[in-house]
Amino acid sequence: MSKVAVVYWSSTGNTESMANAVAEGAKAAGAEVTTFETSDFSTDKVDEFDAIAFGCPAMGDEVLEEDEFEPMFSSCEAKLSGKKLGLFGSYGWGDGEWMHNWEDKCKEDGAVLVSDGVICQDEPDDDAVESCKALGKALA
Ligand SMILES: Cc1cc2nc3c(=O)[nH]c(=O)nc-3n(C[C@H](O)[C@H](O)[C@H](O)COP(=O)(O)O)c2cc1C
Repeated sequence: MSKVAVVYWSSTGNTESMANAVAEGAKAAGAEVTTFETSDFSTDKVDEFDAIAFGCPAMGDEVLEEDEFEPMFSSCEAKLSGKKLGLFGSYGWGDGEWMHNWEDKCKEDGAVLVSDGVICQDEPDDDAVESCKALGKALA
C-alpha cells in the first residue's frame, strides 16, 4: 500500500477543503493517507512517504504563504528529487501565477509532478472537488 502525505496551509478553509478531497481520493484508491497542517510537517518526514500532495493558496502578491508554508516547503526541497508530488491551492483574483511558479520550482528540484497543479477560485465547487480527488488517486 502506498503512503501518501497531504500537507496544507489554509487561512479561511478553502485549501483545507481541497486537502480533504485529495485525501479522500487517495484513500479511495487504496493509499494509506496522513494529513498534516503545515506546522506538523518537516523535512525529516519527506522520506516516510511515497508521494506528497502540497496545498497552499495564492498569498502576498502571487506567492506561497510566507510565514509558515514557504519556510516549511523550502526546507523540504532538497529531498524532493524523484519524489511523486501533487500541488493544489485556492486563489482569489489572480491568474494562477503562483501555481505556475511553484510547479516550475518543483520541476527544478527534480520532483515528479503527477499532474498539473489543481487550482480553484475561492471555495472548491463540485468540479474542483472532483479534480482534487483525481489528484489524490494519481498519487496513490
Ligand atoms: C494576504 C492575502 C494575499 C492574497 N494574495 C492573493 C494573490 O496574490 N492572488 C490571488 O489570486 N489571491 C490572493 N489572495 C486570495 C486567497 O488566495 C483566497 O482567498 C484563497 O481562497 C484563500 O484560501 P484559504 O481559504 O485556503 O486560506 C490573497 C489573500 C490574502 C488574505
